[in-house]
Amino acid sequence: MYFYSVLSVVYAIVVNNVHASKNVIYNDGDSLDWWQNAVFYQIYPRSFMDSNGDGIGDIQGIISKLDHLKDAGITATWLSPIFKSPQIDQGYDISDYRNIDPLFGTTEDFKELLVLAKGIGLKIILDFVPNHTSDMHEWFMKSEDKIEGFEDFYVWHDGIPNGFPIPSVPNNWVSEFGGSAWQWSEKRQQYYYHQFAIQQPDLNYSNPKVVEEMKDILRYWLDQGVDGFRVDAVPYLFEDPHFRDEPLAYGHNSYDVNNKNCLDHIYTKDQEKTFDMIYQFREVVDQYSKDHNTETKVLMTEAYSPMEKLMLFYESEDGARKGAHFTFNFNFITDLKNTNITVTNIAKAIHKWLVYIPKGSTSNWVLGNHDNSRVATRLGRENVDGFNMLVALLPGVMVTYNGEEIGMEDGDVTCEEGFDPQAIKNCTTFNEISRDFERTPYQWDGTLNAGFSTANHTWLPVSEKAKYVNLASQNVLGISSHYNIYKELLKFRGRFSRPAYFDSLTVVELSSNVLQVIRKRNEEEYILLFNVGYSQEVFDFYKSKLTYRVVVASVNSTYVSGDEVDNHLLLNPHESIIIESTASSQ
Ligand code: NOJ
Repeated sequence: MYFYSVLSVVYAIVVNNVHASKNVIYNDGDSLDWWQNAVFYQIYPRSFMDSNGDGIGDIQGIISKLDHLKDAGITATWLSPIFKSPQIDQGYDISDYRNIDPLFGTTEDFKELLVLAKGIGLKIILDFVPNHTSDMHEWFMKSEDKIEGFEDFYVWHDGIPNGFPIPSVPNNWVSEFGGSAWQWSEKRQQYYYHQFAIQQPDLNYSNPKVVEEMKDILRYWLDQGVDGFRVDAVPYLFEDPHFRDEPLAYGHNSYDVNNKNCLDHIYTKDQEKTFDMIYQFREVVDQYSKDHNTETKVLMTEAYSPMEKLMLFYESEDGARKGAHFTFNFNFITDLKNTNITVTNIAKAIHKWLVYIPKGSTSNWVLGNHDNSRVATRLGRENVDGFNMLVALLPGVMVTYNGEEIGMEDGDVTCEEGFDPQAIKNCTTFNEISRDFERTPYQWDGTLNAGFSTANHTWLPVSEKAKYVNLASQNVLGISSHYNIYKELLKFRGRFSRPAYFDSLTVVELSSNVLQVIRKRNEEEYILLFNVGYSQEVFDFYKSKLTYRVVVASVNSTYVSGDEVDNHLLLNPHESIIIESTASSQ
């Protein structure tokens, strides 16, 4: 019992399976800014709510469901792209950054959303896609036509002469979506570079005009009143100016243009100038808040990069330049799956983050998004509450993908029904790589199309599972459901948002199956106990107070909120509880 007070003076240490970290938010008495303890709820607009019966979600649909966000206790939401787009990559291929795609509604609809959101204290974050545009963007068309001023808006290259009319690709770079990252333009008689789909040409960030245009787009939406941006695919902003071939990745001895993992992406990812660009974007939003005397406008960056690179999106190595307010922490997505959920692996994923995060920065914990299999599918239906509890208790920002609050599972989609551009080009690998499964419509209730749409046909099929996993059936007062637990958790998090707190976190591997996470603030102590295993566990947990009571318990728990617990506990398989101290120290 005494050793964690000893350990708590050391940052992130592991002794006797007790991991202790101190001052994980490092506010040392400062009050928290609005975003630092917020729950950011990701809305995938195509699948959230369809108001006009065309089978695709839209802004009026979101407006009609604001009550749900309010009911859940969510105070910030980020919307996947709603801008004009040919929808090749479901909106991540933008043809006009300043206008709303008619599929989702109008500028007026968006303004209405902003006003109504403000009315309920909900922040609206937009998805900013700086790396690439659609090939239907006017800049690209002008660039392809070499119109003066636009020649260098994109990454163009002659290719390598080979005696044929079309030269060979400039180098071995492969696209994230498979195949060469180069596409020949008959018009311009040159190749252009695209990190994602062929229809998503990469912008040329070495061109100051491009940089200025993109900064202006940020300012434009700030003027409309948005509260910040999720910044898409940031590692890819710059490429090697010498266009050198990338070496084979460790463990690969041959090149396969359809396997992005065969190369070590030292020339197309995480280039030095990339981080500088994020610091510049930060200067734009900070300057905006200063000039207009607004609340903080937040930047959250999306990158799947090694930890030491990832942290450079937060700030420069010397801490002098700030970047994202937080860069998404995907460790629970990339490091954990159904087959490897052990207490050790969860503790490792937590500590991997806390060890690297720069001093003074705010942590964040992401459980899911539109690019990854849903929590219930990826980490197990029976673990949904335990993981929601974990991210609710951990210090910093919590990120929820729409539907995770009710434990939605991946839907069933065939290759013929799918839309994901990287998956539909080869049906033999569709099931392994498609992201359509986690994008099926939100399951509101047990009626037609799960209440998502009145259409005969929805853009992706509504999951059959909607009959038994839907919000209406879980949103019943007094029942134990994923949704009611989620709501309790958000209320519980509210307790941490009081200003001027000093906080500590301890992660304990009580056994190979039982995880204990302790958060302490002054005299208060909150503890998560989570049995990730398949058998009953009886154990004593680490505690510093005399008595505890249950704050929230998983759907499969025998405990209910308010139950007193003593030191000796029994947890069923996959059962989880959060308890709080009720009396002073022993
Ligand atoms: C990341 C987005 O989350 C993903 O959905 C998209 O396909 C790529 N960036 C390209 O924009």
